[in-house]
Amino acid sequence: MSLREISRVTGSRKIAENTFESTLHAPQIASLVKAGQFINILPSGDWPKVMRRPMSVSGTEGDNLSIIYKVVGTGTEQMYSWAEGDEVDIIGPLGNYWADFSKTPIIIGGGVGIAPIFFLHNTLQSNNIEHYMIMGSRTANEHFLEHDLPAKVLMTTDDGTYGIHGNVVAAVDTIAENLDLSDTKLFVCGPAPMMEAMKDYALAKNIECDIALETVMACGIGICQGCSMEYVPKESKESSYREKYGLVCMDGPIFKAKEIKTCYL
Ligand SMILES: Cc1cc2nc3c(=O)[nH]c(=O)nc-3n(C[C@H](O)[C@H](O)[C@H](O)COP(=O)(O)OP(=O)(O)OC[C@H]3O[C@@H](n4cnc5c(N)ncnc54)[C@H](O)[C@@H]3O)c2cc1C
Ligand code: FES
Repeated sequence: MSLREISRVTGSRKIAENTFESTLHAPQIASLVKAGQFINILPSGDWPKVMRRPMSVSGTEGDNLSIIYKVVGTGTEQMYSWAEGDEVDIIGPLGNYWADFSKTPIIIGGGVGIAPIFFLHNTLQSNNIEHYMIMGSRTANEHFLEHDLPAKVLMTTDDGTYGIHGNVVAAVDTIAENLDLSDTKLFVCGPAPMMEAMKDYALAKNIECDIALETVMACGIGICQGCSMEYVPKESKESSYREKYGLVCMDGPIFKAKEIKTCYL
């Protein structure tokens, strides 16, 4: 069930380079939302554009939910300038959510893809499900968590300034030194090249892998068809349009890696 709620800003802070966390008092949506789902935000009361801005929920605490975002344009600029007590019109929870933790989860976030992964981390922790978490970034100041291998929390940087030198694939290889990856399942959200690399890795090694796609969205509720993605064609028969193309907002954002033709949308 999704609904519209007028939330209230309860706080905002910078957590890393150009990365912000805002919390919203939204009792109804906070009580329903699960890790992997998103909300569609009207950044301000006088927002001049038609499209709301989709944001994954990064966590909940009581009646509050949080989002983590980078400022990339006018909508996220507006969010960055929210003051405590401001009212924000949101719709949610939208989309599907992470599920099936029967194999050891390796949860992997890159860039702002850390938001749903962070929510998943807290969900797994509160259900006492042992897992590994990997966060990838270009450089040290984009990270806000500690690299702690014994605690199964791995940070990577492309430039080697923090954690493991390399991308998130290098961190999965580090885990593979002590763990049979066929007993694991990957949960991935991040920039398209990162998700594509993890998709190829998972398919090559026959590891289960769920990927949360992010694309430009308009309605967020299956009407505009602006968020289509293409499935891998079925071998056996001619596919109908709905079997060939999915909607990220309704059928996703989480898809099985083996079903997605490409993460570049
Ligand atoms: C399901 C879903 C969950 C998301 N979760 C998060 C999140 O947790 N944190 C976060 O920071 N962002 C997230 N995004 C992306 C976020 O919605 C966009 O960055 C945001 O809408 C940009 O709004 P803007 O008005 O600031 O920028 P705009 O002025 O609209 O765009 C600025 C630049 O960002 C690009 N852009 C816009 N939307 C997207 C997009 N969806 N993906 C990639 N590039 C985009 C534009 O092409 C343009 O180059 C998510 C997107 C989806 C679909
Ligand atoms: S955003 Fe409109 S159909 Fe998905």
